This record gives sequence, C-alpha cells and structure tokens, in this order.
Amino acid sequence: MPTIEFLIEKKKIKVGKYANLRQAALKHDIDVYVGVDRLANCRGHGACGTCTMEIVEGLQNLNPKTRLEQFHLKDRPENIRLSCQTEVRGDICVVTNFKPKPPHQ
Ligand code: FES
Repeated sequence: MPTIEFLIEKKKIKVGKYANLRQAALKHDIDVYVGVDRLANCRGHGACGTCTMEIVEGLQNLNPKTRLEQFHLKDRPENIRLSCQTEVRGDICVVTNFKPKPPHQ
C-alpha cells in the first residue's frame, strides 16, 4: 500500500494503489484548497486548476499528467500536479496548496 506524506500537515496516510490524491487528502481532513477556492472549485473534475500540490518526492510513482493538467499547469514546474487528476501508485511526499509566486511588475 502506498504512503502519502503531507509535509505541512505532518501526516502520513496509507492508501490503496491507484488512489486519487485529492480524494485521499479530503478523506483525511487535509485542506486541498485555500480561501475562496474552498467553495469555488470544480469538485475534482479538472476544470478549475485550484487543487495543486507540489510533489516533493515520488514523482515517478504517479500517473503521467493528464491533458487537463497539461493545460492548467503549462507554465508551472514539472512536479506541480492537480491532485484531482493524480493517481498514487507508490510512496509520495507532497506539499499542499501550492500557489505560484505572483509575477514581478
Ligand atoms: S478540483 Fe478543480 S482542477 Fe482539481
């Protein structure tokens, strides 16, 4: 059984193989969203782009990025994933609520 370690929350959870990262987080009371995104999100359909997480370890233990992720995350580092589109196939370590730095003005 894969383990997901949530660094900020200091939680490690065991999940079934191919578990959905967003669903696993919500099931264990991990905040996937921040601020208004808690209400204004697409509930895991890959449409809003607000469920981002940084994969600190275990990127190789995930499914390849979906087309929705390629669209929403095209300017983001490779280790940023939409948790609702991410399938956990082995141990990973994540940072929740990854948001990009605002652009310089
Ligand atoms: S919940 Fe909307 S993109 Fe993941």
